[in-house]
Amino acid sequence: MSARTAAIRLARTAGARVASQRTFSALATATRPIVSRQAAVPAGVRGVKTINFGGTSEVVHERGDWPREKLLDYFKNDTLAMIGYGSQGYGQGLNLRDNGLNVIVGVRKNGTSWKAAIEDGWVPGENLFDVNEAISKGTIVMNLLSDAAQSETWAEIKPLLTEGKTLYFAHGFSPVFKALTKVETPANLDVILVAPKGSGRTVRSLFKEGRGINSSYAVWNDVTGKAEEKAIALAVAVGSGYVYQTTFEREVNSDLYGERGCLMGGIHGMFLAQYEVLRENGHTPSEAFNETVEEATQSLYPLIGKYGMDYMYDACSTTARRGALDWYPRFKDALKPVFEDLYESVKNGSETQRSLDFNSAPDYRVKLEAELETIRNMEIWRVGKEVRKLRPENN
Ligand SMILES: NC(=O)c1ccc[n+]([C@@H]2O[C@H](COP(=O)([O-])OP(=O)(O)OC[C@H]3O[C@@H](n4cnc5c(N)ncnc54)[C@H](OP(=O)(O)O)[C@@H]3O)[C@@H](O)[C@H]2O)c1
Repeated sequence: MSARTAAIRLARTAGARVASQRTFSALATATRPIVSRQAAVPAGVRGVKTINFGGTSEVVHERGDWPREKLLDYFKNDTLAMIGYGSQGYGQGLNLRDNGLNVIVGVRKNGTSWKAAIEDGWVPGENLFDVNEAISKGTIVMNLLSDAAQSETWAEIKPLLTEGKTLYFAHGFSPVFKALTKVETPANLDVILVAPKGSGRTVRSLFKEGRGINSSYAVWNDVTGKAEEKAIALAVAVGSGYVYQTTFEREVNSDLYGERGCLMGGIHGMFLAQYEVLRENGHTPSEAFNETVEEATQSLYPLIGKYGMDYMYDACSTTARRGALDWYPRFKDALKPVFEDLYESVKNGSETQRSLDFNSAPDYRVKLEAELETIRNMEIWRVGKEVRKLRPENN
C-alpha cells in the first residue's frame, strides 16, 4: 500500500468514525468532520487523482501540479487572446494577468466591455484590442463572447483562426450544437474547454483569496497530441483549484439542464408553488416567506452544502424528519417527468435554439429586464426584501 493510499484509507476510516459519532445537540461539533476530511489529503501529495465518487471512478487534476513557474514556462511562447470581457472574461482574464501570463483582451471598441476593461487596467493598443485584432495576435484564442455572440460572429472569426492556434471555450454550447450555432471549428486546430463551476466574479474572488474554483475541462479536437495537457494547464492558469474531466457534450447538457432545474428554474418554481399555497390558505406574507425561502437559504441549505442531506435531516426535529422522509419520494415522482422533458429539450437542441433566438435579438437586454422586473415585483420577492432587513446580522 503506498503512503498516499494508506493516508487516504486512514482518513476515510477516521471520517467514517467521526460521521457515526455526529450528534445534533451541538451544531458546533459540525466543524469536526470537515476538519478531518481536509486532513485526509496530506499537503505534499500531488498528481492526477482517480477518485471514487460514490462507486464511480473519475479523474481529477489539481492546481498543485501546475505551480506558477511551470505555467510561465509552459506558456512562454503564447499570447492568450481573451475574446469577450463579460463575467468570465473579467475573472479569467485578470487571473491570467496576475499569474504573469501574456494575455490580451479583445472586445468591440467602445462597448460596455471595452470601458470595463479599461477600468480594470487593460490598455488600448497594448493589451486591449478589438476582437479581430486580438484574435490575429493570439496563439490561444479564448472565446468568451456570450454564447449567442459566438454564433453571430463566427463567420467573421473563423478565417482568423489560422493553423497552429488553439481555440478555447468555457462552454460546450457552440461546437456541440453546431447545426444551430453554425460554429464548425477548423479541423486543424486544438479545440478545448474549461468551464468554471461558478460565475466569473467567483473565479476572481476565490483566486484573490488564494483558493481556486472547481472547473471541468474537455477536448473537442486534438491535433497536437497536447490538447488535454493544455486544457488542464489553462484551467489552472485561469484560477481553477480542482479540474474535472468531461466531454463537450456532457458539459453543455449538464450545464443547460442544471441551470433550468435545481440551480435556478426548478427551485424558483418550487418556491413559488409552496408560497402560493400558503398564501391561499391564509398565511401571512412573512410567514409564507420565512417557511419557504428564508429558513431554507439561511438555515437548512447551508447545512446540505457543508455536510450533506443526511446531516440536514439529522439536524431537524423528529417531526420534521418524519414528514420530509415521507414526502420526498412524492416530490421526486412528481418532478421526475418534468426533469425528463427538460433533459430531452436540452439534448435535442430546443433550449439552444431558444437561447440563440432570444439572446440574438437586438432588444434582448430590454426584454430580459422586463422579465426580471416582473420577478422583482412578485409579492414573494418583495416580501423577501423586507425579511432580509430583519436578519440578525442586519440588526
Ligand atoms: N457567467 C457564467 O457564470 C459562466 C460560467 C461558465 C461558463 N460560462 C461561459 O462563458 C462564456 C462567456 O460568458 P459570460 O457570462 O462571461 O459573458 P456574457 O455576458 O454572456 O458575454 C459577454 C461578452 O460578449 C460580448 N458580446 C455580446 N454580443 C456581442 C457581439 N454581437 N459582438 C461582439 N461581442 C459581443 C460582450 O461585449 P459588449 O460588452 O461589447 O456587449 C461581452 O464582452 C459563455 O460561453 C458562457 O456560457 C459562463
